[in-house]
Amino acid sequence: MKIALLGLGSVGRGVVQVLSNPAYGFVITAAADSKSGVVAQQGKSLDMDEVFAHKAATGKCGDTAWNAERIVTEAEYDILVEVTPTNAQTGEPALSHIRAALARGKHVVTSNKGPVSIAYPELAHLATEHNAAFLFEGTVAGAVPIINGLVHGLAGNKVHQLFGILNGTCNYILTRMEEEGLTYAQALDEARDLGYAEADPTYDVNGTDAAIKLVILANAVFGMEVTLDDVIRIGIDRLTPDALRMAGTTNHTIRLIASIHPGKRLLEVSPRLIPKDHPLVVEGTLNAVTVETELAGPITFIGRGAGSVETASAVLADLLAVKERYGRT
Ligand code: HSE
Repeated sequence: MKIALLGLGSVGRGVVQVLSNPAYGFVITAAADSKSGVVAQQGKSLDMDEVFAHKAATGKCGDTAWNAERIVTEAEYDILVEVTPTNAQTGEPALSHIRAALARGKHVVTSNKGPVSIAYPELAHLATEHNAAFLFEGTVAGAVPIINGLVHGLAGNKVHQLFGILNGTCNYILTRMEEEGLTYAQALDEARDLGYAEADPTYDVNGTDAAIKLVILANAVFGMEVTLDDVIRIGIDRLTPDALRMAGTTNHTIRLIASIHPGKRLLEVSPRLIPKDHPLVVEGTLNAVTVETELAGPITFIGRGAGSVETASAVLADLLAVKERYGRT
């Protein structure tokens, strides 16, 4: 199947790397970053090494005659892979691109949280209307298959409660403050260097990023109708090393916990005191989520919540699901 790839940053490079394996059966026929785009002749495969080399040399991945908007509406492709950075406030420009692709009957796979958290009902409706797939496993907990795990793996189970760590940056900061005695600012600098933090890390540390992921799970998995304003949000930005030290005196630690009680319409992100030997106390940038279910009991997912190839793994799973459902032999 033919892919138009929007976003050539960390996740985009991971997607290119993964899809270079011909066994998966995808070719990239168009690609764009925020400045420019490139389209293969007659829907053939692009040479992505050449595209990246051009970008390294000129700062642009193609020419300005093609840009993301034009690719979405005019290029020849089956699936739009939208992996540009999140705009938490408006979801744009990704939201308009996803809308336009679905309206053309193209499938969309995205790791971009903004559009899904802001407009899931509308985009899902548009996809159904045009018999297209709209999948976004990579938006929540990166490589961890939490959406597919809940929708397919635990199909039919009633989820009483979901709680856990959905922001790797905050988890990293808290781990480093606790283990190395770093100040909040030092730990945040390290997290930024690792490339995990959002373009504006305020969204990580004030709890917005985790809250956005809760909104996606609530609407797309639990059938709730909520927005970011429905999430009680307290970040870690005012947490002191002293608070962590005090927690340690009783063998506890502090972690930024995101939780949903689907039945009670309760969504919350806040720093909480938890025993150090609790399964959710994971190291570094990991994510960890426990779901308490009616039939399966408690299940905990732990894994990498971001990263280039890691997020591409989630994108690949969605692409293969599209191929299985809509692909020709
Ligand atoms: N900034 C996010 C995090 C990236 O730290 O978890 C993954 O969504």
